[in-house]
Amino acid sequence: MSKIKAPIVILNFKTYLESSGEKALELSKALESVSYESGITMVAAPQTTDIFRINDETNIPIFAQHIDPVSPGGNTGSNLMEALIESGINGTLLNHSEQRMRLADIAEVIQRTKEQKITSVVCTNNIETSAAAATLNPEFVAVEPPELIGSGIPVSQAEPEIVEGTVNKVKEINKKIKVLCGAGIATGDDMKAAMDLGASGVLLASGIILSKNPKTALLDLVSKI
Ligand code: G3P
Repeated sequence: MSKIKAPIVILNFKTYLESSGEKALELSKALESVSYESGITMVAAPQTTDIFRINDETNIPIFAQHIDPVSPGGNTGSNLMEALIESGINGTLLNHSEQRMRLADIAEVIQRTKEQKITSVVCTNNIETSAAAATLNPEFVAVEPPELIGSGIPVSQAEPEIVEGTVNKVKEINKKIKVLCGAGIATGDDMKAAMDLGASGVLLASGIILSKNPKTALLDLVSKI
């Protein structure tokens, strides 16, 4: 198992221009400095093209946004786990709502993350799919109602029952699995609400990436826990 400690903030860089290339590095340095100041684990989930450089120039944990269920060889255009590890990842998101996977493929990639000792975060959209994900035994399940993604409406305040219900259901299946929530999270109040509902942290994007000053936004995010 890798050593990713909760509480945890995972910043999904997605494919925003504001978090690509040079700006991906700046954002990663902001994560590093806020993590250092707050003592809270801050993870960057950049595009594949930026992983090597962020790993070279910072000291923060890095997750892939997606890994394909492929082995080394003939798989043009795929994200190969072994290559991502060599570039510097410590874990990966899987089944993000913008990159859904088949159940059997999620199971296969989780199994391989265990063999390679990297962290797995399976994204889900509701309590039922969170329960299904928990049976596959990842380290984290991250529940994100798709309709709130990028909306600026925080799941932890707008739909607390999904977060609490997911925590309860996942813990019934396996107490060791940690639950994160995401969608619309941006402020210290949003993160505190998530933690109060039993989440071990948050997975977020636009609230930080598109803010005027991402470092200030990150400091606010962790100011109430
Ligand atoms: O992976 C995080 C994500 O889908 C939530 O996006 O922009 O609502 O924070 P956002």
